[in-house]
Amino acid sequence: MTIKAKIAVLISGAGTNMAALVYASRIADCPYEVVLVASNDPQAEGLALAQAEGIATFALPHKGLTREAHDAAMEAAVLEAGAEYIVLAGYMRILSDGFVVRWAGRMLNIHPSLLPKYKGLDTHARAIAAGDSHGGTSVHVVTPELDAGEVLAQIAVPIVAGDTPDTLAERVKLAEHQLYPRAVADYVSRWRDPVALLERVRNLALAFPETDERESHGSPGFRVGGEKSGKYFAYFADQHHGTPHIACLVRTGGMDELLNLVEAQPEVYFKPAYYGASGWIGIILNRPGVDWDAVAEWLTRSWRGAAPKRLTRLLDVADEF
Ligand code: GRF
Repeated sequence: MTIKAKIAVLISGAGTNMAALVYASRIADCPYEVVLVASNDPQAEGLALAQAEGIATFALPHKGLTREAHDAAMEAAVLEAGAEYIVLAGYMRILSDGFVVRWAGRMLNIHPSLLPKYKGLDTHARAIAAGDSHGGTSVHVVTPELDAGEVLAQIAVPIVAGDTPDTLAERVKLAEHQLYPRAVADYVSRWRDPVALLERVRNLALAFPETDERESHGSPGFRVGGEKSGKYFAYFADQHHGTPHIACLVRTGGMDELLNLVEAQPEVYFKPAYYGASGWIGIILNRPGVDWDAVAEWLTRSWRGAAPKRLTRLLDVADEF
């Protein structure tokens, strides 16, 4: 059984997107579960539906509270419910920067336009007034700048003759109900998707000078030093030799360092079969919250260890400045 990501959904109104998320979560193999539905409006229709579905709810009117105080109370409810992600679904509040920054990479929103077009309000009226052929909807990562984070998925919806903002909004919602559950499912699965993880390792590894990628015993490997005399400095291992880990293998300073790290942080490191014997360590990537800066540092170190002097000398000189 796969572990499901826990999401909290924040709403202000009808909550039809929340309902779509909830019902999609009831399909076998959905990678997320909804652990909380919270609202700034105790009358929000969606709350009753969530309650009927046996989902914990929380409501707190924002009136009379500062933005920070209201956000803090919402956040406390989210943490109390054990949510790992916040999914905004028609939550009509601008969030304070601190809140957004604390949830960086773990907060999504759905916006009823084809971003980057029509950030903010009245999106359908603006699309119609502009004579656009299509409106649409976008799922994006939430960043402090309004409706400006990475767009994860979109559906375009044709504007038809006689459309009003309301008729268009209604059809866009039909598209949203398909899009949001899928986009959330894909997003929370990113950390265990071998294709996405390899892509990330590859981008880091091939950013160093004179590197190339070559398969070794069925695994992608990364080498430095040119076609003929290149030396491996990293491998990408996808659940090898019966381990559940998707990992990046890099060279340590030796067996002592390797074993100490594995003992101190068994959730981060392991000693890989075969490679472990010659001082290579596995950094586990298929877990939430991987510190990619640390992975990049390991790759740098491993690259330096394998690179010919003429390349490292340049870096050593650069380091002195
Ligand atoms: C949706 O159209 C969404 O794009 C926007 O607010 C609306 C929420 O609708 N952010 P509902 O409450 O999910 O029905």
